Amino acid sequence: MADMTKTALLGGKNASCWAATAKQRCYSSLAGSSRAEIVIIGAGIVGLTTALRLCEAGRSVILLEALRVGCQVTGRSTAKITTQHGLIYDNLIRDMGPAAAQSYADANRAGVDQILDWTIAHRIECDLEIKPAYAYTTDVARRGELTAEANAARQVGLDAEVVERAPLPFETAGALRFPDQAQFNPIQYSVGLARAVEALGGRVFEMSRVVSIDEGSRWRVSTDNGIVDAENVVVATNMTIKSPVGMANRTQPRSHTAIAFRLDDPTPFDGFFLGIDEPTRSIRTARDDKGPLLLVLGPKFNTGQEADVAGRFVELEAWARANLPVGDVAWRWCNEDYDTPDRVPYAGEPDPDKSPGFHIATGFNAWGISNGTAVGKLIAGRILRQPCPWEELYDPARPYDKTFHVNGSSRSIVASFDEIGPGEGGVVVSGKQKIAAWRDGSGKLHAVSAVCTHKGCTVSWNNADRTWDCSCHGSIFAADGSLIHGPARKPLHPVDL
Ligand SMILES: Cc1cc2nc3c(=O)[nH]c(=O)nc-3n(C[C@H](O)[C@H](O)[C@H](O)COP(=O)(O)OP(=O)(O)OC[C@H]3O[C@@H](n4cnc5c(N)ncnc54)[C@H](O)[C@@H]3O)c2cc1C
Ligand code: FES
Repeated sequence: MADMTKTALLGGKNASCWAATAKQRCYSSLAGSSRAEIVIIGAGIVGLTTALRLCEAGRSVILLEALRVGCQVTGRSTAKITTQHGLIYDNLIRDMGPAAAQSYADANRAGVDQILDWTIAHRIECDLEIKPAYAYTTDVARRGELTAEANAARQVGLDAEVVERAPLPFETAGALRFPDQAQFNPIQYSVGLARAVEALGGRVFEMSRVVSIDEGSRWRVSTDNGIVDAENVVVATNMTIKSPVGMANRTQPRSHTAIAFRLDDPTPFDGFFLGIDEPTRSIRTARDDKGPLLLVLGPKFNTGQEADVAGRFVELEAWARANLPVGDVAWRWCNEDYDTPDRVPYAGEPDPDKSPGFHIATGFNAWGISNGTAVGKLIAGRILRQPCPWEELYDPARPYDKTFHVNGSSRSIVASFDEIGPGEGGVVVSGKQKIAAWRDGSGKLHAVSAVCTHKGCTVSWNNADRTWDCSCHGSIFAADGSLIHGPARKPLHPVDL
């Protein structure tokens, strides 16, 4: 059982720092029957990019979002807009060959350029800042890896150099520097894209969770209150909620802790930073309505397979206080994305013969701002019959390492409800029933089924975000069982105690 005192000790608001400054426009939810050429499920960076490309080409588009525009994985990311993805090009050249590495660089550079172009073309105010990206090490023995990566990056046409140290307030043993990268507020950007989609005739619906995708005249997509028929369906739900080629075993969900601290003076942080040593850290400046922030990210862990997420926040805060000039904790949250065995996302039409017009995108390895924009362009291009040079790279049906995905088991099993203290959660197994229960501050117990509605794995309690996280494919449910993140499409079932 996790240390129950830790949750109470965590400071700051439990939410992403980006929402505070983003002026959301509320869209209505889908009702009745509608028709469009393309229905896109999910208004994160992938769905919005695809939608805007298609609307710019004059196509009729309906965009269905389960919650709010841009507020899920995109709106909880560190939102670095960069072709520097840790150390990747040297690996890609060795594992997949120079052509694949070139494709990856080209796609991501096109993704970065598209974001910069749209912020100007659609006048999107999203705190966009041009900054250098640094991947740093504190271990002198790893400098060679930085040099190899700089050489590989230059081989695929990217501007890269190794510098003696990263401009950070603690000692580093070298850093890989990519000039002229960027960072922004991802929710403001998403809101801007949605407005542009709407201005070009696209129809956007929020609070419209898709519960089924069936074959109709072509594709029929249903929410609880509405139906859309379309020639093409784009499943841009971060993890696919349905796919003709299953994605669950080709990916591994990974989560991170994120803390945004108050910062007196952001000017010394001339760049954004990623540590390549274990435990990895990511650092960037940000701002909310009260002023500058320093956003710090902790190392990844498998979603639902960590018994004490709050403990990870405590460690991250201690590290930040020891190494960075941070003030109070303003915001803190978890975010997840999906890894792939070869570090390249899956995007496109998985089975064009049997399921023509069914498109997916997933597995961004936590680099989906640039990759997600690139694959939005790719999918839109496929629908518009404009072939894209990166289709082979992102092929969602390519062979994969079958040992990569590892299911977990619940890390929150307790013998009885009595073991669950105020603010905590646990899973009680009683005969065939598995009950996920949490106790509120007044001591009242709330219970739902612990059986994930995706494929039946048992959920774990996230004692920091107070969510039920599935240890198999990363579905996340609120404490009351309502669905936050798929692949599940339904909430946890209610249980009477
Ligand atoms: C901690 C962390 C930091 C990151 N930082 C960076 C970074 O600095 N730079 C970078 O390039 N990448 C970063 N990433 C990765 C990047 O944020 C993601 O890969 C990218 O945002 C994914 O976009 P998406 O559109 O697939 O997902 P989302 O933004 O989650 O969009 C999917 C949308 O689909 C909706 N949805 C889900 N199910 C349904 C349904 N059934 N019906 C209707 N709608 C549905 C969701 O509500 C959601 O809004 C980071 C990831 C993590 C975890
Ligand atoms: S997410 Fe697949 S079983 Fe829970």
